[in-house]
Amino acid sequence: MARIVAGVGTSHTPAIGAAVDNGKADQPYWQPLFKGYEPAKQWMAKSAPDVLIMVYNDHVNAFDFKMIPTFALGCAEEFPIADEGWGPRPVPAVKGYPELAAHLIQSLVLDEFDMTIVNEMQVDHGLTVPLTLLFGSPRQWPCRVIPLAVNVVQYPAPTGRRCYQLGQAIRRAVQSWQEDLKVVIFGTGGMSHQIQGPRAGLTNPAFDKAFLDDLSRDPERLTRIPPIEYLREAGAEAIELVMWLMMRGALGPKVEEVYRFYHIPASSTAVGHIILESR
Ligand code: DHB
Ligand code: FE
Repeated sequence: MARIVAGVGTSHTPAIGAAVDNGKADQPYWQPLFKGYEPAKQWMAKSAPDVLIMVYNDHVNAFDFKMIPTFALGCAEEFPIADEGWGPRPVPAVKGYPELAAHLIQSLVLDEFDMTIVNEMQVDHGLTVPLTLLFGSPRQWPCRVIPLAVNVVQYPAPTGRRCYQLGQAIRRAVQSWQEDLKVVIFGTGGMSHQIQGPRAGLTNPAFDKAFLDDLSRDPERLTRIPPIEYLREAGAEAIELVMWLMMRGALGPKVEEVYRFYHIPASSTAVGHIILESR
């Protein structure tokens, strides 16, 4: 049987990818951030998952304002790297798992989640920066990846509670796949940040700390945070944190926090990272 063994929450700030791609990771501005991800990389190397489910958001790259699915599951064999305006990041293409993705779609739709099937999709920094943070710069990514893109770019984004429930359904779906697979699920984006308008640069470390604490202590409290509260308290782009709740929902009732890192600033983002093992 396939099992979701752990969840990873991490910011996906594009400047982090640019720092690696342009050889700046050792500079004083970036060094503390990458140092903070070293234990996480070791954890990932030791865990050696077969498949990642990457809950992330597209930033008007794969989808534009002509069409924005709320929950889109990537069913392709391969996902090319998107050109976000300065050429695609020089990282390997992402290999999917069409058979498992088709099973997830079937299970989730029969479980009454109206997923969008995506058979062709490019992936942007929302997905590639977390891969870089946890795997470094390998010639090929060491495992297959099923992208699950969530709309958090145009109002209305799904609620945290709905994301959590979808996470619970993903757990059921994975557990009903016969192959013996170790699956790690990511929730990416956040933490507090706003990248536009008069409040650009806003962060809220107290909000972020409480969020990180309650992922293991009281996730139900987090599912009651209404969308407007993320925006008001933690900046417009903090709504990305609903994707961390999908990750948390997929881990089952009991989790153990095995690593945490928090750092300000990276670009204008409060970078947060957590690893939760399912118990
Ligand atoms: C930025 C973009 C993001 O998508 C994000 O989540 C954080 C920061 C940026 O452009 O700096
Ligand atoms: Fe983002």
